Amino acid sequence: MRSDAQGIPRHIGIIMDGNGRWAQRRLLPRSAGHRAGVKNITPVVTVALEYGVQCVTLYAFSTENKNRAKDEVDALIDLIRKRLKPMTRELIARGARVAFSGDSSYFPQDVRDIMEEIVAENTDTTAQVVNIALDYGGREEILRAAREAAKDGEITAETFESKLYTAGLPELDMIVRTGGEKRLSNFLLYQAAYSELFFTDTLWPDFNGEELIALLNEFSKRTRRFGK
Ligand code: FPP
Repeated sequence: MRSDAQGIPRHIGIIMDGNGRWAQRRLLPRSAGHRAGVKNITPVVTVALEYGVQCVTLYAFSTENKNRAKDEVDALIDLIRKRLKPMTRELIARGARVAFSGDSSYFPQDVRDIMEEIVAENTDTTAQVVNIALDYGGREEILRAAREAAKDGEITAETFESKLYTAGLPELDMIVRTGGEKRLSNFLLYQAAYSELFFTDTLWPDFNGEELIALLNEFSKRTRRFGK
């Protein structure tokens, strides 16, 4: 279940926490923190892709985020509406393929259209993947996969995993959570079974490629110890 011999994680999940606190510390509205958070995605993901990571999954909007104040939810959806396309276009131009995990039916039709257009823009099906979790919840994903797999008869690991949003993506070797909390918050619960977990106090808008490289170095050391 471990990554390849070079100690490079095949798949990293990132919980981008701390946008609200980043904004509050600057006496700005929380939405300003989310805007800063979006700007930070491409630079950090680019470092991961250049390092050779095959897939990065970003926790952009959880099923629980819907329960936040209406103003904040509306601001987050509007940010997705305005920034998702330019952001993913840049990632695709850098050679990535963009995928989505989650129940997109929650989002307004225009946002769903944007997601469909983005998927249609993918040209290289063999490229490294940037997987964006939108209205994603781990428990909901497991229940959905179980229901789907049960329709086909006997549930095996293979049939079950083929019904997860992450079907076909590489093994999740590493999870990084910014913002100081030490929990998974319903992120990739099934996939996290063998993941190495990394928590940093850095707030997501302040997290950068340099810190990611430091965590990747730590990952490679943990991996080597595991092999002994
Ligand atoms: C956690 O910060 C972050 C989120 C709830 C959302 C993360 C979303 C993005 C970075 C933008 C997604 C948009 C696109 C276009 C992909 P928090 O608000 O919980 O911060 P706090 O813990 O400091 O309050």
